[in-house]
Amino acid sequence: MDLKERCPIVYFGDHGDERGKLVVIEGSQDIPFEIKRVFYIYDSDDTVVRGQHANRESEFVLINVAGRSKVRITDGTEEIIVELDRPMMGVYIPRMIWKDMYDFSADSILLVLASTHYDGAEYIRDYEEYLKEIRGQ
Ligand code: TYD
Repeated sequence: MDLKERCPIVYFGDHGDERGKLVVIEGSQDIPFEIKRVFYIYDSDDTVVRGQHANRESEFVLINVAGRSKVRITDGTEEIIVELDRPMMGVYIPRMIWKDMYDFSADSILLVLASTHYDGAEYIRDYEEYLKEIRGQ
C-alpha cells in the first residue's frame, strides 16, 4: 500500500442548514478507531514546526476546524504533504508514521483525535531512531 492509501483524506458529514454548519465525526464509524483523546493546537504560526515525531501505538486524525495548516507525512521512504483547510476534512495517520505540522495560519485551530490516552513513552522524537525502528520491523 502506498503512503496516500495508508494515510487517506477523510470527509465528514456536514449537516448544514440556514442556521449554520454542523460536522459530525463518530468514532469507529467515520474514522477507523475509537476516540480516546482529543487535543487541539492553536496560536501557532508560519514560523513553527510541530509534531516531528512518530507514535508506536497511537493513530490520529488531524482536522483544521478553523484556519489552515500543512502536514508533512513520511514513512521513511515516501513523503506526502496534506493541506488541511476545511472543517469537514481530515487526514488519518496510522502508527509508525512520521509527521510534521507547519505553515499554521494565525487563526488555525488544529483538532487532533487520538486512539490512545497520552503516553510520552510511545513517541519516537528522533528521526534516526524512527528509521532504525521501521527498518527493523
Ligand atoms: P507535543 O507532542 O510536543 O506537541 P506537538 O505534537 O503538537 O508538537 O506536546 C507538547 C506538550 O504537551 C508536551 O509537553 C506533552 C504534552 N501533551 C500531553 O500532556 N498530552 C497530550 O495528549 C499531548 C498531545 C501532549
